[in-house]
Amino acid sequence: MTKSSAFGKIILFGEHAVVYGRPALAVPVRQVYVDVDVRDSDRKGIWIDARAVKLHAELDTLPANHPIGATINSLFFLARVSPYPNLEIKISSTIPVASGLGSGAAVTIALTRALATHLRYPMEDADVNAFVYEIEKIHHGTPSGIDNTVITYARPVYFVKGQPIETFKVGQPFTFVIADTGVPAPTNESVGAVRQLWLEDNPRLEAVFDKIGEVSFAARCAIEAGLSEWLGELMNKNHALLQELTVSSPELDRLVETARQAGARGAKLSGGGRGGNMIALVDSENAETVSLALKQAGAKHTIITPIF
Ligand code: PMV
Repeated sequence: MTKSSAFGKIILFGEHAVVYGRPALAVPVRQVYVDVDVRDSDRKGIWIDARAVKLHAELDTLPANHPIGATINSLFFLARVSPYPNLEIKISSTIPVASGLGSGAAVTIALTRALATHLRYPMEDADVNAFVYEIEKIHHGTPSGIDNTVITYARPVYFVKGQPIETFKVGQPFTFVIADTGVPAPTNESVGAVRQLWLEDNPRLEAVFDKIGEVSFAARCAIEAGLSEWLGELMNKNHALLQELTVSSPELDRLVETARQAGARGAKLSGGGRGGNMIALVDSENAETVSLALKQAGAKHTIITPIF
């Protein structure tokens, strides 16, 4: 039997603008993860059991564009596996689906690593990252690559599309509260909506992307210098710019406002938006208070996560 795991992730700054070449920051969230185990089987075929997405099926019965099927078939093609072995693949996950915590990328990464190890097909992190990026295109259409990068390397990343991975230092530990609106929001829909706006009013959107890029750059400086007050202000600024991109929602705005009122230093939506998660920067001693306030305001669940 071969096992592999992958953490979730959260985008701190720069979502959407990152698709258009501006920098973004993301960090692993170690409180949520995917586990995959692969074992040889006596039963004919490749059986996949992924309870979180209510999937129990044989590989050949999956549609051609199913990300799990595509991952297995593409990896077997790459590793020249023929004929296919009989396998049982179990995927379990504590990462909420379609909520901006990277569940799709984490499943693909853990599955890729577990299969590659099981087949004794060597893959470096860079190979896994490049491979998973191709699979992400099935999920998202035009992904920037930030999800697969932060989850593959499991460390903070300062990400610019097409450029080598850059990590950043954290000047002092920061605490974030992540809260889920409970509204599932597929990323490809919000990315598509922004694409539509960009086609309609290119100069305005480019100007917003530039401002988001500047916020991301400043946020990296604030994190490296350990300046939480400045970082909080930058989160608020980033949220306002995301509202301009129409990717916030009444539920997200309510949680963002609640977090600020409960004493967070700043708050913003995170990921694709229109649902999914928001994040708030808090002083560690205030984390429980903000988390409780968010739950009272309707958050389905919250995660308190440090970055260090
Ligand atoms: O919804 P998430 O967390 O998968 O993040 C999407 C981030 C976007 O910038 C909106 C899209 C992308 O591919 O970077």
